[in-house]
Amino acid sequence: MNYNKTITNNKIELLNYLPNIGISNVKEEILTGLLAKQKYISPKFFYDGIGSELFEDITRLDEYYPTKTEKNILAEIVTDLDINFNKLNIIELGSGDASKITLFLEQITKDKLKTINYFPVDISQSAIEKSAEELLAKFELNSITGVVADFFHQLKLIPQNGKRLFCFFGSTIGNFNSDKAKKFIKNLSQNMQKGDSLLLGMDMVKNITILENAYNDNKGITAEFNLNILNVVNNLTGTNFNTSDFEHYAFYNSDLNRIEMHLRAKKDIEVNFTSKNKTIKFNKGETIHTENSHKFTSENINEFADFSNLSVKKIFVDSKEWFSLVHYLKE
Ligand code: AVJ
Repeated sequence: MNYNKTITNNKIELLNYLPNIGISNVKEEILTGLLAKQKYISPKFFYDGIGSELFEDITRLDEYYPTKTEKNILAEIVTDLDINFNKLNIIELGSGDASKITLFLEQITKDKLKTINYFPVDISQSAIEKSAEELLAKFELNSITGVVADFFHQLKLIPQNGKRLFCFFGSTIGNFNSDKAKKFIKNLSQNMQKGDSLLLGMDMVKNITILENAYNDNKGITAEFNLNILNVVNNLTGTNFNTSDFEHYAFYNSDLNRIEMHLRAKKDIEVNFTSKNKTIKFNKGETIHTENSHKFTSENINEFADFSNLSVKKIFVDSKEWFSLVHYLKE
């Protein structure tokens, strides 16, 4: 497969696979969602420059516990993690900013760090570049290879050599529905070799008020983040969504163990999808489903293992058991 290769300096290499996906597929994908009976836009479109910043603001909100909780677990994990770090290849899926892997690497001794190769995989090239520079300034690693890719579709492109630790933090797995999540972990497992590990962040089922508050913060940052997806869609497809015609709507669906985020039309609206010669019609009160954020139980942790032929080596949790970092092993 073709990719653009950039070498920033002798330690950072960047492989960009995204040009292969192409903008026409993106337009098609977004249009399909907007023409569906329950309209939807994939949450991967939240993260343009502004959306990524808004998400970082969310992670600092009092109500939004997942990032803080996961970081607290991560900051103390290494002594209890049964992994040999010598010449380890660490592959972080959806790496975003460098803050989580920094907490992790800070616990590894310098002589081991020198042998480690780090592969951040993300759809944002700028996020990868920024975090690679930051990490190199802080740690003496053997190498950093950024992989700009949609990791859901491009798992095969991830380097295959050596012992590997896959990190999939943030409970981003919760964006997938249960079937898709299981298939994703299975697919990942099929790409793993004996002795490879996966460290998976999972946000756990808990009190509904805590869950709903985390997605309905007082400052309205989550609302801004949700509405910004319409600007991203406008930029990608040339539609004329007006964010002020919609309102943020997030609730916990207890049948499906998930927070659902929607954008609700405040009045009857028509939006032009000129590039595809279509008009999208909204009745007042109709919603666009923009995100599912599934919450997990210990049964789900085991289900992933059984379905994917992985074993659960250890489960790391915070004192309230709000979040789990699960160490899966390929045996
Ligand atoms: C990055 C997908 C884990 O589901 O909690 C935060 C995104 N959406 N607030 C989540 C998000 C609204 C977040 N994930």
